[in-house]
Amino acid sequence: MTAPVPIITIDGPSGSGKGTIADQLAQTLGWHLLDSGALYRLLALAAQQRGITEPEQHRAELAKLAVSLPIEFRPDSSGNSKAWLDGVDVSGAIRQPQISGLASRVAAIPEVRTGLLQRQRGFLRLPGLVADGRDMGTVVFTEAPLKIFLTASAEERAKRRYKQLKAKGESVNIARLYREIEERDRRDRNRKVAPLRPAANAIVIDSTEMSIQKVLDEILSLHYKLDLSL
Ligand code: C5P
Repeated sequence: MTAPVPIITIDGPSGSGKGTIADQLAQTLGWHLLDSGALYRLLALAAQQRGITEPEQHRAELAKLAVSLPIEFRPDSSGNSKAWLDGVDVSGAIRQPQISGLASRVAAIPEVRTGLLQRQRGFLRLPGLVADGRDMGTVVFTEAPLKIFLTASAEERAKRRYKQLKAKGESVNIARLYREIEERDRRDRNRKVAPLRPAANAIVIDSTEMSIQKVLDEILSLHYKLDLSL
C-alpha cells in the first residue's frame, strides 16, 4: 500500500483571500496547487469564444468540453502560475468580471462538475496538494485531513477585489463590484450541486480582521499539529 498524498483544502466565497493563501501555503510547504476556480473560468472563456452566452442551453457541449479542453498551468519566468488554453496564455482574460459571472453559471451545471471531477483529482500528487475552491472539502477531496473554510464580510471581500483589480490598472466601480460578488455568492450558495458551504469537519476562519500572514500562520499551525498527531 502506498501512503496517501497529504491534502489541505481551502474553500470559501470570492474575495475571502483563498487564492493568495492557497498559493503561499503551497509555496511554503513545497506542495502542488489546484486553483479549481481557474478550471471553471477557463471553461467559461472557452464557452465565450464559441459564442455561448446562455450556458444552461448548452449543457452537453459544455460537459464534453470540460473533459477535453486543452488546459495547462505553467510557471512564468518569475515562478507565477499561468493558465493556458489551446496553447495561449489566458491568465489575464479569465480574471475579467464578465468571465467571473459566466464561470459561476457554467459551474452550476451538474454535467460540467462531473466532467471536471477527474481532472481536479489528477492534481493530487506527492509531496502534497493545496486545493482551493468551493467544494474541495465537500465533494472533490472528502478524504482531506485538514479542511479550511475561509470567509470574510461581503464589504471586506469587495474592497479586496477592488484593490486587486485597481493594482492591475483596471477601472472598477466598487458598488458594482459589491453587487457582482453578492450575486455570484448567492448563485454559488444556492445551486443544487456542490453548493458553497463548509464541510462538516471544516475549520472556519473569518479573515475580515486578519492579515494574510496571520491566516497563513494559523493554517500552518493547524497543519503541523495534525501532522504530529498522525
Ligand atoms: O475561485 P474563483 O472566483 O476563481 O471561481 C470562479 C467561479 O467558479 C466561482 O464563482 C464558482 O461559481 C466556480 N467554482 C466552483 N467550484 C469550485 C471553484 C470555483 O463552482 N471548486
